[in-house]
Amino acid sequence: MVSVHKGDWDKSRGPESNHEFNRAWLAAAQRILKPNGSIWVSGTAHVIHSVGFAMQQLGFKLLNDISWVKPNPPPNLSCRYFTHATETIIWAAKDKKSRHTFHYKLMKETNRGKQMKSVWEIRPPESWEKRHGKHPTQKPVALLERILLASTSEGDLVLDPFAGSSTTLLAAFRLRRNAVGCELDAEFLTLSVRRLCSNLVQLEISVACLHFSVDPPRNPMDRSCSGRSSDRSAPCSGRGPSRASFHEGAPSSVCEGGDFFSNITSRANATKHTICMSPQLQLVQQERRFYFVGRAKREILFTVLADSLDEARQKFRNAGNSDSDALFIIKTETEIYIA
Ligand SMILES: C[S@@+](CC[C@H](N)C(=O)[O-])C[C@H]1O[C@@H](n2cnc3c(N)ncnc32)[C@H](O)[C@@H]1O
Repeated sequence: MVSVHKGDWDKSRGPESNHEFNRAWLAAAQRILKPNGSIWVSGTAHVIHSVGFAMQQLGFKLLNDISWVKPNPPPNLSCRYFTHATETIIWAAKDKKSRHTFHYKLMKETNRGKQMKSVWEIRPPESWEKRHGKHPTQKPVALLERILLASTSEGDLVLDPFAGSSTTLLAAFRLRRNAVGCELDAEFLTLSVRRLCSNLVQLEISVACLHFSVDPPRNPMDRSCSGRSSDRSAPCSGRGPSRASFHEGAPSSVCEGGDFFSNITSRANATKHTICMSPQLQLVQQERRFYFVGRAKREILFTVLADSLDEARQKFRNAGNSDSDALFIIKTETEIYIA
């Protein structure tokens, strides 16, 4: 059974009072929206009609109402209604004069060359999106990425005044937008910090993969524990926030090079003298992640969280890959502290 009690913030205060609240926050959002900016508001039937009406009252220019279709909705247990399988998302510009951004071509390309319709079938959040904890109304990253790709450009500033687990901020950072969020609940704020910090570190690594040669060094080996294990307890350990190491993917192909590795290690060394762990630091995220880089195309084929290389390789095989698909494997260990 699916709980309908999502939190005190979701409790109705009656239709008039709910509408007054919607009008108040929408007016504040409209005030700070740039002249050509736009706003997206999602909601189920109990709230979205009030939001749409408030927008009309305030003079927003309504652009579209998107039906977000959930392919596997929870069943309707009462059997007295159709299964709720959609959520409406209203897209509106600040006012009638606005010349809002719409990346029409990009949306068409994303939709295999056909004009994108206002019905979007997007799966609910995948398990990797909930690995830092759950929010009762968490949106899929794919949904927010589509919204931001359609209506914002790199470098734009995005605000989510009801951030929850910060899916909007995460999608914005992944797409190189700036983002600000507001959230009432301290638990959801902690979840957001964990989620964002962890993903930002991964993002830096994937950018590094694009910019540097990924040829493995001669005589590949596990370099992750070369004299570093005692670092853990040292008061001023010199460990950067993230470090990477390579593992051979298959013994047959060893190339010259290693720019990527040396770049990562030199970056870690560069931080060595600047990061000094103080006892007040709070560890908020710790993980060991493995990236399998493909043999045919040197792209990341598969990433997984695992305690050991053996476990990661087993998961790689369980996902339908064979050992020879990977040219090599990058292991990163990440610890994030709130200073
Ligand atoms: C629908 S959820 C947002 C979920 C979010 N889209 C996500 O993917 O996780 C709304 C959030 O707004 C927060 N909230 C409610 N009223 C608020 C207020 N007045 N100021 C800031 N946050 C508020 C709630 O705590 C809740 O986490």
